[in-house]
Amino acid sequence: MPPHLFAYQGSKRRLAPQILAALEGRRYRRMLEPFGGSAAMTLAAAEAGVADRFVLGDGYGPIAALWRQALTEPAALADAYAAIWQAQRSDPAAHYYAERELYWSDPEPARLLYLLARAVKNAPRWSSDGRFNQSPDHRRRGVHPDKVRAAAHAVADLLAGRCEVREGDFAAQLADAGSGDVVYLDPPYVGTSTGRDRRYASGLDSERLAAEVASLRARGAAVLISYDGETGGRSYAPPLPESLRLERRLLDAGRSSQATLLGRDERTLEALYLGL
Ligand SMILES: C[S@@+](CC[C@H](N)C(=O)[O-])C[C@H]1O[C@@H](n2cnc3c(N)ncnc32)[C@H](O)[C@@H]1O
Repeated sequence: MPPHLFAYQGSKRRLAPQILAALEGRRYRRMLEPFGGSAAMTLAAAEAGVADRFVLGDGYGPIAALWRQALTEPAALADAYAAIWQAQRSDPAAHYYAERELYWSDPEPARLLYLLARAVKNAPRWSSDGRFNQSPDHRRRGVHPDKVRAAAHAVADLLAGRCEVREGDFAAQLADAGSGDVVYLDPPYVGTSTGRDRRYASGLDSERLAAEVASLRARGAAVLISYDGETGGRSYAPPLPESLRLERRLLDAGRSSQATLLGRDERTLEALYLGL
């Protein structure tokens, strides 16, 4: 398994081998992942030798800053995380809320790592005014600092020197993508990025996504897109337009926990669109 730095809701860690298999051994000059989050695909692709160089980014600045520090100063990141983690001794919940408040004015990478490690379902949530507002999971204390230290060094060893970190909107991050590149897109699902308690810091509309994919294809880049999915035959999002001429495959993402709670045994299928 490739290393991973933090758990993140919506992470493609488990699906990464199936997504990479769709490339059927092709090799690229660069792989770009502009909706990077926990970078599950970049890490898996780097370990599998899919590309020589990588561009990893996220629209949420503090995630990009976290990756930048992990790849260039893994020891400093691990030290800062250990300091925050150790200070939670007597009253972990109060410590979490204090760190969360500090984060609003000072979103430093180790603080984000700590909040993600202790948040309910490792799932960040943002209020409508853009504040990280997830509550702590009272059953866990967050990943032990020794584990974070090992992970930070492992991701740096794998990617340092061949991975550029970008921040900002996906289309701007992809401005120089073209022939010889493969672009992996895992945008936030329609319906999870608007309204109260949003799952991601910013939303996205499907027409803008389709326009960018058309532009990437015209520039000669290969694209892989995790876009929608279905559980028990119900689809989450309208399909991407036919005019993009992408192949749509369904990958098995395992049992649906929501359906299991409702007493149904249903698999979740995730769509992967391919333009190679
Ligand atoms: C579904 S998650 C990606 C998860 C990732 N594949 C992983 O394995 O962890 C989507 C990510 O896109 C980011 N995002 C949302 N809108 C964006 C935009 N317009 N441009 C770039 N990134 C954006 C979010 O901050 C979030 O981290």
